[in-house]
Amino acid sequence: MTDILGDMRRTHHCNALSAGDIGKEVILMGWIQRRRDHGGVIFVDLRDREGITQVVFNPVYNATVHEKAHDIRSEYVIGVRGKVEKRPDGMSNPNLNTGEIEVLVTELKILNTAVTPPFQIEDDVEVTENLRLKYRHLDLRRPALQKNLIARHKASVAVRNYLNGLGFLDIETPMLTRSTPEGARDYLVPSRVNPGQFYALPQSPQLFKQLFMVSGFDRYYQIVRCFRDEDLRADRQPEFTQIDIEMSFVGEDDVMNMAEGMIQTLFKEVINSALNLPFPRLTYNDAIARYGLDKPDTRFGLELKEISDIVKDSGFKVFADVVKKGGIVKALNAKNCINLSRKDIDDLTAFVAIYKAKGLAWIKVKDNEWQSPIAKFFTDAEKNALIERIEMKPGDLVFFVADQPKITNEALGHLRNHLGKKLGLIDENDLAFTWVTRFPMFEYNEDEKRYEALHHPFTAPLEEDYDKLLTDPTAVRSRAYDLVLNGFEIGGGSIRIHQRALQEKIFEALGMERTSYEEKFGFLISALDSGAPPHGGLAFGFDRLVMLLCKETSIRDVIAFPKTQKAACLLTNAPSLAVKSQLDELHLRVRLTT
Ligand code: AMO
Ligand code: AMP
Repeated sequence: MTDILGDMRRTHHCNALSAGDIGKEVILMGWIQRRRDHGGVIFVDLRDREGITQVVFNPVYNATVHEKAHDIRSEYVIGVRGKVEKRPDGMSNPNLNTGEIEVLVTELKILNTAVTPPFQIEDDVEVTENLRLKYRHLDLRRPALQKNLIARHKASVAVRNYLNGLGFLDIETPMLTRSTPEGARDYLVPSRVNPGQFYALPQSPQLFKQLFMVSGFDRYYQIVRCFRDEDLRADRQPEFTQIDIEMSFVGEDDVMNMAEGMIQTLFKEVINSALNLPFPRLTYNDAIARYGLDKPDTRFGLELKEISDIVKDSGFKVFADVVKKGGIVKALNAKNCINLSRKDIDDLTAFVAIYKAKGLAWIKVKDNEWQSPIAKFFTDAEKNALIERIEMKPGDLVFFVADQPKITNEALGHLRNHLGKKLGLIDENDLAFTWVTRFPMFEYNEDEKRYEALHHPFTAPLEEDYDKLLTDPTAVRSRAYDLVLNGFEIGGGSIRIHQRALQEKIFEALGMERTSYEEKFGFLISALDSGAPPHGGLAFGFDRLVMLLCKETSIRDVIAFPKTQKAACLLTNAPSLAVKSQLDELHLRVRLTT
């Protein structure tokens, strides 16, 4: 077999040559971005991952290669030898790093042909994402995606350098393991040698990293894949990557300071952005009170105000009744929005209905009166109290939701984000980081009538709330913290329970029987019992971080081979049916239940 390259080897990549190279003989290799035939002279934009260089086939200069250049098409792979020349006056392209020069070709090797691609290899192509995902190997040739994946690489290097410098050890953990509860469904893998038994893919390496602390490794990190079978969104994938970190002999501030330093380094090294430390902190309760959500977008105002106390005896029965039943009424003052139409308000009412709000009351504040379907229900005293609490000024449009706290907060919290975007209140260049701390330990699951851990059940409760663990679980606060950036939860963690008795108490508060938690987490309990140091840590969503670093709106654009909303890989057609012989080996028979 002949080697198609022969002795031809690249001297430069396609973004390297400039005026200083004029006169040199060079060899370039890459893909044909574009081929233009200008009255006999053929111009080709040659592309590789670094950039583009214009190469020229001129019949006057070399008739043989010019003849051969008639055969080349978009996306063919070629190698060229030639001489770097200054482009003629007026022909330079200031948009290209190589825009002052071109390469006059003396030798052309067609290294491979290519069928016509299903879409043009350039940014802003107007094709469906599904087509892009089916031909992801071509999609990944587009400069925007190359830039994103290069940024992802740089981010990984910056994180590793930072953590290595602080004495963290990168240690791997198993992928075939047992369930680690992080609140999602597990992906299960059948065991061939243990008929009827399954491994779970890790939702996170949570328990293993705690065991590393028990083993005395002191500081651990891993950039690691996690698997969660949950409903997918723009910022969620079934397999995603965490920067997973754990440290011994620390409290909240130690972990948070280390994490802030890491984020500062990352933003400096990847996008040359200087962040000021420390990041602001909000307690969970304050975040919910002011923004309705535990991942507040703090780039703009429009904070929520609770008015339950003002309207609890009002003539507007909807509000008064909700408060009597333990619900709350909150207001959002959309400043200067008096011009929104009835149709706009109807649309917003439909929007909050997504979050289960039963209605969206409103008041338009005119100079001397309120225009509103509910104004007539309030006394002057109530009106004055509302004006003061909500800071109502002429020109304002105020929205109200009355419901159980969770619904009221979620509906208005999402409405706030929606209005922030719709009203153009967000500076897209802003990077608003906020820590949210002291999350509740437990959340009551109405459907299943039991308490669940809000973070995970290995999170330590706040010591001053220990006495409420079994009597008033939802009032117990935890030593958990999340880092939020522009309304995205980019990371979260906690100080862990390091003593057996407390861990058992938490399992009991969660309604687990001793036999059940011993079966599932016996190895952890035994580890805590054998000299576990105080420890804590956190994990960042690496894909989300890179998405925000790259100013993308979907994590799919920073993952080489992402899955669709239906958790499918359109490139490989996974998932797919298993063949009978495979199932037989696994001792399985497929019988679909629906
Ligand atoms: P948590 O479940 O909060 O914590 O996950 C940490 C971070 O991972 C990111 N993330 C995701 N990113 C993309 N797709 C998903 N499906 C997805 N799920 C989570 C988020 C989140 O903040 N073991 C704990 C960490 C700890 O306590 O140390 C954990 O996994 O950005
Ligand atoms: P109604 O008396 O049902 O016609 O409602 C009067 C106004 O109150 C309408 O604008 C409704 O959208 C609004 N509304 C009804 N229920 C609620 C609720 N739970 N919270 C906020 N507004 C509501």
